[in-house]
Amino acid sequence: MKKDIVLTGITTTGTPHLGNYVGAIRPAINASQNANVSPFYFLADYHALIKCQEPERVRQSSLEIAAMWLALGLDTDNAVFYRQSDVPEILELTWLLTCVTSKGLMNRSHAYKSAVAENEQSAENDAEKGITMGLFSYPILMAADILLFNANKVPVGRDQLQHIEMTRDIAARFNHIYGEYFALPEAVIDGNGSILAGLDGRKMSKSYHNTIPLFESERMLKKLINKIKTNSIEPHEPKDTSDCTLFSMYKAFAKPDEVAEVERRYAEGIGWGEMKSMLFGKVNEEIAPARDRYKELLLQPDYIEEQLQIGAAKARTFSQPFMAELREAVGISRF
Ligand code: TRP
Repeated sequence: MKKDIVLTGITTTGTPHLGNYVGAIRPAINASQNANVSPFYFLADYHALIKCQEPERVRQSSLEIAAMWLALGLDTDNAVFYRQSDVPEILELTWLLTCVTSKGLMNRSHAYKSAVAENEQSAENDAEKGITMGLFSYPILMAADILLFNANKVPVGRDQLQHIEMTRDIAARFNHIYGEYFALPEAVIDGNGSILAGLDGRKMSKSYHNTIPLFESERMLKKLINKIKTNSIEPHEPKDTSDCTLFSMYKAFAKPDEVAEVERRYAEGIGWGEMKSMLFGKVNEEIAPARDRYKELLLQPDYIEEQLQIGAAKARTFSQPFMAELREAVGISRF
């Protein structure tokens, strides 16, 4: 059986939260321990430059996100774990792809269109204001990330679906012109529908400011869980588990028999205070060991660097020969 090549990147701005963890990171860590999968996970630091021009923030976020993957037990013997910028073939491929991508395709990108729409709302009457070529051609860089390793499965959030479709279009275009070099990747949408709700009950998302950061201190974790919005049904009154943020979060962390027990307690009328403290206990139990490792790892940047360099070397055993073939394919070679 041919192994699935599963590839995903995390943009190195900001801090991962429990929603990212449940929807994307935890499944990716589990997949890394599956011998039938060949995982490629990377820090998308070139993508970070599209939204962030604060060098220290990009550097710090890269370190934190790398430490997070390692702290959560990523199996680096099976998974290829690297920094995008350590694999220069990605940028080289980006150019080859840029030259087969129609501008019209990029005009349709949601990220670009929503930036234009926002500008059109403002009084200044400049639709292109602040839009860089990086933002505009972002989907081509992402296509290069994926196609360079011929990934067939790409786990992403729903918002990234269009980028995977564009990757397929770009790959098909290249294949049509130069021959069958690329596999067409498929998106795998986050966590089989287990989308975690945030503090206000809407989907947990950076843009809603309703997140619980993954490695928040124990004290802050408790405080944030206590802030989760509930209804005003009194203790001892029966409660509904459907549409309850506390319950759905509990379910994302507990075993089936524990969930059944909590369902029974809801019917009996568990108080929200008690439920919050049970939820804190469950989340903390799962996160605490990794949180401790994470803190230790942050103090060992040399170790993290070493892991990333091992990963980049592994990645390049694929990307260098493939890139040589692609260069040849387009007519760029020595005489
Ligand atoms: N653009 C993705 C995001 O913002 C991150 C990313 C970059 C990515 N390159 C990728 C995801 C390649 C999957 C495959 O979430």
